[in-house]
Order: sequence, then C-alpha cells, then structure tokens
Amino acid sequence: MVTIRGRAKINLTLDVLGLRDDGYHEIATVMQSLALADTLTLTREESGIALTVDMPGLETDERNLAWRAAALVIEHCGIRGGVRIDIVKRIPVAAGLAGGSADAAAVLRGMNELYALRLSDAELCALGAQIGSDIPFSLMGGTVFATGRGENMKPLADFPKIHVVLAKPPVDVSTPWAYRAYDAHPPEQRPDNSAFLEALAAGDMTACMRLVGNVLEPVTERAHPIVGDYRSRMYAHGAACAMMSGSGPTVFGLFTEQESAAYTAEEFRRETGAAVYLTQTAGRYGV
Ligand code: C5P
Repeated sequence: MVTIRGRAKINLTLDVLGLRDDGYHEIATVMQSLALADTLTLTREESGIALTVDMPGLETDERNLAWRAAALVIEHCGIRGGVRIDIVKRIPVAAGLAGGSADAAAVLRGMNELYALRLSDAELCALGAQIGSDIPFSLMGGTVFATGRGENMKPLADFPKIHVVLAKPPVDVSTPWAYRAYDAHPPEQRPDNSAFLEALAAGDMTACMRLVGNVLEPVTERAHPIVGDYRSRMYAHGAACAMMSGSGPTVFGLFTEQESAAYTAEEFRRETGAAVYLTQTAGRYGV
C-alpha cells in the first residue's frame, strides 16, 4: 500500500502566445505549488481499477484523470494486476487549481512505487503529458516556468514561503471554455514573464507581487464578474497581491503575515459564504 499527496497549484503568471494546429494553446506560465493537497492511497489488486473519492458527485471511472493515469501506467508497463485508489479530496474541483492533475500525478508516482517500476521523472512526465497539460508540473512541484502546452518545464528558484488565501466563487469554469472565450476576445494586457523571472531570480518579491498577471483573468471575469469582486476584497484585506489562478474561477491572495491571512480567510467566509482555504506555497517534491 502506498499513501501519497497531490498538491494544488496556482499560476503566478499566465500568458497565451497563440493557438496551435493541434487545438491547444501555446502558453508561458509561472506555476507555483501549494501545501493544499489531496491524499491518495493506492493498494494492489488482482486486476482492474477501483476508484473512490470522498467528495460526492465526482466521477470514479475513466472520466477521472486519476483513473486514466492508472490505466496508462498499467498499459505502458504491461502490468499484470490492478489497483484500488482511494482519494481524500481537499482541492476544490473545476477551480483553476489543477486538482485533477494533482491526483493523476500522485497516481503516476504511486504506481511507480507500488509496482517498483523504476520509471524516471522524465518518463513519468511524458506519460502525464499524454493525459493532461498540467500533470508534468504536478509531478514536479515547486516553482516552475512552463511553456508549450504547459509540459515544457524550467525549474526556478523557489518562490519564498508565503501565506495563500484561496477563495472559490460558487461557479465552475471549464478550461476548454476559457480558452475558447480567450480566442473570441483576446485581452490586450499581458503579463511580462521576462520581468517576473528577472525579479524572481533577483529575489525582489515586491516586484514579483506587482508583476503577477493572468491573461485568462479578464476572460473569465467577463462571464463571472464575481472574480473581480473577490480580487478587490483580497486587496481590501491587505493582500500583497491578488489574482485569479489558471482558467479560474479561484482567486488567490498572497500574504506575508500568517495572522492577516488567517483573518482574511475568516472575514472572506463571513462576508461572501465562499469556499475559502488557507494554505502556503510549497517547494519541489522530494527536496
Ligand atoms: O491538457 P488538458 O486536458 O488539461 O487541457 C484541457 C483543455 O484545455 C484542452 O482540451 C484545450 O481545450 C485547453 N487547453 C489549451 N491549451 C493549453 C492547455 C489546455 O487550449 N495549453
């Protein structure tokens, strides 16, 4: 039996560079993993894939990325045997936090251990990329500059440990929808990735906070103005910066003081009734 965690992520920057022939978008993004995580327990079975999730309404068949990750490893490695996967879900779904990818990445690492497969990180990433663009990052964690579909990764100096308040508006956003809406009305304002990377390398956190930017934020916000409302509230509570993550709709606020993060989370819950999570940035797995 193997127990393994799959962490959530936020995008500190996200730019879309163009639409590719394969229907995906070329992106350039700084991704950051969080301590907020799902916990997965994998147990060997004679055959098949059995999946349980402690959150009602979530698919437990081939529509779930965790299931697909297990099927891919079984097929790729010719495993004679199956697996039971039990997921304790803490990362909100359809939120822009890569919760499904976190689970799939945990299954890839978990299967590697459970069946002593000795797949390298590069092999795991290649397998992960077959089923989801965010999975290679979810396998690695930490602070990464990702390009291509999101699968080409350049590890960066860890973003300093900082407190993160996540607030998920009561709407679900699908990633394909967000990219289609982006194509229909591409926003003019874009994040400056080079400036962000320079500021990060120089350890200039004040500049980093100013340079966060997500080209999908105005896209999702147009359909769901509540995103802008949540961002303003984060700033009103003293966040060093606040922005939507990924295709949304979750808005994160970064706080240098634990107390003000905790107070904000509490107030946010009281004011809006939103699903609010208090967490921290997290470094690379295994480092
Ligand atoms: O790779 P993943 O399955 O997470 O992507 C879900 C959908 O999001 C894709 O089918 C595509 O519509 C969109 N997407 C995209 N460009 C990316 C990543 C995702 O257009 N770089």
